Amino acid sequence: MNQPESSASTNPAKAFYDRISHAYDLLADSNEHVAREKGLAALNVAAGERVLEIGYGTGHSLLQLAEAAGAEGHVCGVDISEGMQKVAQKRVDDGGVADRVTLSVGDVPPLGFADGEFDAVSMSFTLELFPLDTIPEVLAEIRRVLKPGGRVATVSMALTQADEKDSMLEKTYKWMHQHFPHIVDCQPIDAEGSIRDAGFEIRVSDRLEIWTMPVAVVVGIA
Ligand SMILES: C[S@@+](CC[C@H](N)C(=O)[O-])C[C@H]1O[C@@H](n2cnc3c(N)ncnc32)[C@H](O)[C@@H]1O
Repeated sequence: MNQPESSASTNPAKAFYDRISHAYDLLADSNEHVAREKGLAALNVAAGERVLEIGYGTGHSLLQLAEAAGAEGHVCGVDISEGMQKVAQKRVDDGGVADRVTLSVGDVPPLGFADGEFDAVSMSFTLELFPLDTIPEVLAEIRRVLKPGGRVATVSMALTQADEKDSMLEKTYKWMHQHFPHIVDCQPIDAEGSIRDAGFEIRVSDRLEIWTMPVAVVVGIA
């Protein structure tokens, strides 16, 4: 990662995720793991591929991506939180895949990687943390680092669609994000629309629910 680590220090997400890094799995993993695994299945990483995970958190996906990429492949990860890096690095070490995983700490965007470096990019419960006007920049960076034909998979809190029941919890979430962004740092987004607008062809668009709130799994092709 070419980015200086100090560039991460002004983003409040860094302090927030540093603080909760050791508790994150207790707080979130039991709700999120089914959706996260759906995203990984949709990305369908093959042996020998180079993969980037943005916002790797405590590192569950890194392990699965590294197993799928195999000894000939490689997984890079970038996350803003040093606390998360420590937890994720331990998971990678304990999982016996440290030889094929490289973790860095940095504030995305930009992505400190060369053009066309990756076959696939994975992101779960992270795209919706960015301010809405930053999402196109994040996706443009993802497109830049992907090879032509490369895939991006996102798992994110989604907006309710016309044929879906309005979720009280979703409304509360949006309200909390608007008024207390330091407590609820994410907001439901139109991931599919954003990914399409960034120039990707949509290959997978799937939905599921976490506690009545819609979650979208989207795969786009660069
Ligand atoms: C909600 S957690 C999701 C973690 C993991 N992907 C999962 O599904 O369990 C979001 C992660 O994104 C990271 N993050 C937040 N803002 C970021 C940014 N601007 N650049 C890089 N990572 C960021 C956080 O540190 C955190 O680890």
